[in-house]
Amino acid sequence: MAPPSDFKPIIVGFLCNWCCYGGADLAGVSRFQYPPYLRVIRLMCSGRVDLEFIFRAFAKKADGVFIGGCHLGDCHYNPEGNYDALGNSYVAKRILENIGVNPDRLRLEWVSAGEGIRFAEVMTEFGAKIKALGPFGSSEGREVAELQDGLQAATELVPYFKLVERERFRVPKRTEAGYQEFFSRPDYEPLFKELIVDKLSMGRIMGALRAGLASPEAIAQKLRFDPAEVARHLQLLSQQGMVRLNSGQVELAMAA
Ligand code: FES
Repeated sequence: MAPPSDFKPIIVGFLCNWCCYGGADLAGVSRFQYPPYLRVIRLMCSGRVDLEFIFRAFAKKADGVFIGGCHLGDCHYNPEGNYDALGNSYVAKRILENIGVNPDRLRLEWVSAGEGIRFAEVMTEFGAKIKALGPFGSSEGREVAELQDGLQAATELVPYFKLVERERFRVPKRTEAGYQEFFSRPDYEPLFKELIVDKLSMGRIMGALRAGLASPEAIAQKLRFDPAEVARHLQLLSQQGMVRLNSGQVELAMAA
């Protein structure tokens, strides 16, 4: 369904103080035009943009999230914060996709303080993209509340995701191509599923149980999961002592 013609997207923009914020400022003083969708949050470095910031922005119904940093090699902090932002954006997009949020709603760009015109061009293009996608949830074909549940589960797991990123998703080559290569390696997919997707699925199942669902079928339906996957995760949760399985019903093993 086409988005309403009067739809004015809200884009939360996390801009690095030293480069992209300067680019935005230059675009403003130079009177370069771009759509007025951006709500700017100024940070010292794009590497400061935590996964939690991204999930929380979407949970608050932002239609898009933009991260703007210095060009690779120009970050003012060591080790290069913008490479951390790059890794985070790969991981965040995959998590968003997994919980049903269109990953195109998240964009990372490098803009220097001298590139006012480039900033205006990027914001014009991204604004048009988000406008075409429509309000948060519409291009996804999901209720906002359903997406918010997934974002909440993802937010609760952020400390764990950070640990996994640091220990298992350490990119050997700090170049843009190195990151692209790492995150498209054939062995990345099963690793991501095992370390991130499965944990997230179990977190969402625990959330459904806390919300009062008591049958695996109802959980699978609510979360749009494959029933076989729900059964597999419930077995694991049972082995970990988190849930009790009893005559086709499931309950939390402890008050949570
Ligand atoms: Fe700008 Fe790190 S200081 S991205």
